[in-house]
Amino acid sequence: MAYKRTDGRKNDELRKPILAKVGIIPNADGSAMFQIGKTIAVAAVYGPKKMHPQHSQNPEKGTLRCTYNMNSFSVEDRIRPGPSRRSTEISKITEWALEPAVMLEKYPNQVVDVYINIIQADAGTRCAGINAAAMALAHAGIPMKDMVSSVAVGKMDKTLVLDLDKFEDSEFEDGEGSTDIPVSITHSGQITHIQLDGKIDSEQLKEVVEMAKKSCHEIYEIQKQALKDSINLGGKK
Ligand code: CDP
Repeated sequence: MAYKRTDGRKNDELRKPILAKVGIIPNADGSAMFQIGKTIAVAAVYGPKKMHPQHSQNPEKGTLRCTYNMNSFSVEDRIRPGPSRRSTEISKITEWALEPAVMLEKYPNQVVDVYINIIQADAGTRCAGINAAAMALAHAGIPMKDMVSSVAVGKMDKTLVLDLDKFEDSEFEDGEGSTDIPVSITHSGQITHIQLDGKIDSEQLKEVVEMAKKSCHEIYEIQKQALKDSINLGGKK
């Protein structure tokens, strides 16, 4: 029997609410929050500034340095504060997802720091973090070729569904179980990040990409509106 979503969403429906706001941290050079369902990410950008130590400088282009952090109070079972293997991996993934859209060649020897904090987690935090970070980079005035939007597609047993919640991501075990496939895409349709930790055939993977592209377009419109609103509300901060 095909999987039926417990929260009543259609298989290709994003969680609600989706809220985006730009310019939430006055001391940062750029900042944004992105909420989808019960997952909330906040991103702050500092820089570009000179990279220290000097041996880490790249004379060819600037460095995008992302730091993902899940706050200890963001989940039901408090998590140990500080870096973990998981946060190190997601920080790296976030850099790779955003880098192709950022014109780092304009900032040789410099670094742009992006700090992502997950203040409430209910699955899909890396995608929410990437959505917030992309807006924060634009808000900071870092030249970008394109916006980046991110969403996870899941395979529940054999059924594809969009934007998994915590139950779907971690607790569903029927049949082939749950596979989570986070995807990040530029507005022009270039995939900058895709992860897969389960089994899926190539036909279904094509469907995953199509579902992600369609919903990233929806997310893009929300990011764009939030950036426009920040300008209408009186500028950068
Ligand atoms: O958050 P995302 O889906 O990008 O990454 P994940 O590692 O697949 O984690 C899925 C969800 O599990 C998170 O969003 C949290 O809700 C939860 N989680 C948790 O409760 N405790 C952890 N140490 C890690 C994740």
